[in-house]
Amino acid sequence: MNICVVGSGYVGLVSGACFAHLGNRVICVDNDESKIKTLKKGAIPIYEPGLAELVKRNYKELRLSFTSNLKQAVKSSEVIFICVGTPPRDNGEADLSFIEHVARDIALYMPSYRLIIEKSTVPVNTGEWIEHTVKLFNKRNIKFDVASNPEFLREGSAIEDFMHPDRVVIGVKSKKASDILTELYKPLDAPIVITDIKSAELIKHASNSFLATKISFINSIANICDKVGADISEVAKGMGLDKRIGEKFLNAGIGFGGFCFPKDLAAFVMISEKVGYNFGILKEVQKVNDGQRTVLVKKIEGLLWNLPKKTIGILGLSFKPDTDDIRYAPALDIISELLKEGVNIKAYDPQGMPKVKRVLKNEIKFCKDAYSVAEKSDCLVIVTEWNEFKELDFKKIKKLMHQPVIVDGRNIYDPAEMKRLGFRYVGIGRR
Ligand code: UGA
Repeated sequence: MNICVVGSGYVGLVSGACFAHLGNRVICVDNDESKIKTLKKGAIPIYEPGLAELVKRNYKELRLSFTSNLKQAVKSSEVIFICVGTPPRDNGEADLSFIEHVARDIALYMPSYRLIIEKSTVPVNTGEWIEHTVKLFNKRNIKFDVASNPEFLREGSAIEDFMHPDRVVIGVKSKKASDILTELYKPLDAPIVITDIKSAELIKHASNSFLATKISFINSIANICDKVGADISEVAKGMGLDKRIGEKFLNAGIGFGGFCFPKDLAAFVMISEKVGYNFGILKEVQKVNDGQRTVLVKKIEGLLWNLPKKTIGILGLSFKPDTDDIRYAPALDIISELLKEGVNIKAYDPQGMPKVKRVLKNEIKFCKDAYSVAEKSDCLVIVTEWNEFKELDFKKIKKLMHQPVIVDGRNIYDPAEMKRLGFRYVGIGRR
């Protein structure tokens, strides 16, 4: 198929490269010309395992191309995915003006039938607005369909998620749209849920909110474990084996971050309010999540007594492993709380440091690895569970540290083993 993907950000780039890999001819569009130039040179503006190779290969084999010329791309593609940003406004609502502009431009440029698919995470009813906008500017009365096809990609494993999805969700109004999308996704051999557009839009918000709820729920249980001396990893295991609950997303810690859950939750709370429903559970999920950052800082305080002038080593800055994304990263909240307490901070992250340097240039010391973070630190804090932190030489770490204290915000170590090695160690809800 000839596909145009509007918006070459995270979702657009991954989807474009994967659709090309499946044998389609894909044009990725972005109005940021410098981004397009970078992509044409074979450089990828984000860190995502496997993406650079996939883009390069499909670009070289002429299945994937990049342009800032939307008109040209719309003319030559029957299927158009909208993957532009929906950034949060001050009140938490999603800003949909980029979507509106793209819908208008597609209406002005389309020469014949086009299937216009929203892939960006959008509030319910956005499909209707896209249809309304296209109709408004479609002066030649050209036939078109609008569809919703939400993405469920996780940063760090986006290509794997695209190629092997648990399900593909397609929201449509016509058989033609449904046939085109079913054909497009056929090579993935995944269950396809075909539904109406509003339900498809809601599936995305409901799924992210449910996963976020699972995390805040397990974090609440972890906080109770801390109070009564139980172990959250045992509790989560015992719960997760019940197939109705499932073992995934039951890792307690310092809460969720990233550009999806916090933003989507805030948007969903606002959408619900707008339609007259007070989504109290989700408000509590947000509150518990914010509170986990403070839980961690209080644990550090509990082990070090007075914080001012102490040196704290932070391991991990990105919001989760295998990404350089620091948007809404718990590390940033934690560092900001600690700086207020007057501590010195040393930090290391395998991928996230260049981005953090842009926001915290002189406030913290950036180190070359975990060992230089440990040197003369009073406490090591695990904030992101990168694999390389799971295999550190703790005898060496202990010798380097000023005091052998570890606060494990992701529960990646065995408390008994840490104590045996001579550390004062606490996790989140661990015995
Ligand atoms: C999430 C969803 O998992 C994707 O399905 C969805 O497509 C995406 O949002 C989106 O809307 O674009 P992502 O934000 O990349 O993906 O990352 P996740 O792996 O879901 O993790 C989100 C946060 O939850 C991270 O901060 C992670 O550390 C935290 N988390 C996750 C926990 O604290 N505990 C867990 O058990 C699992």
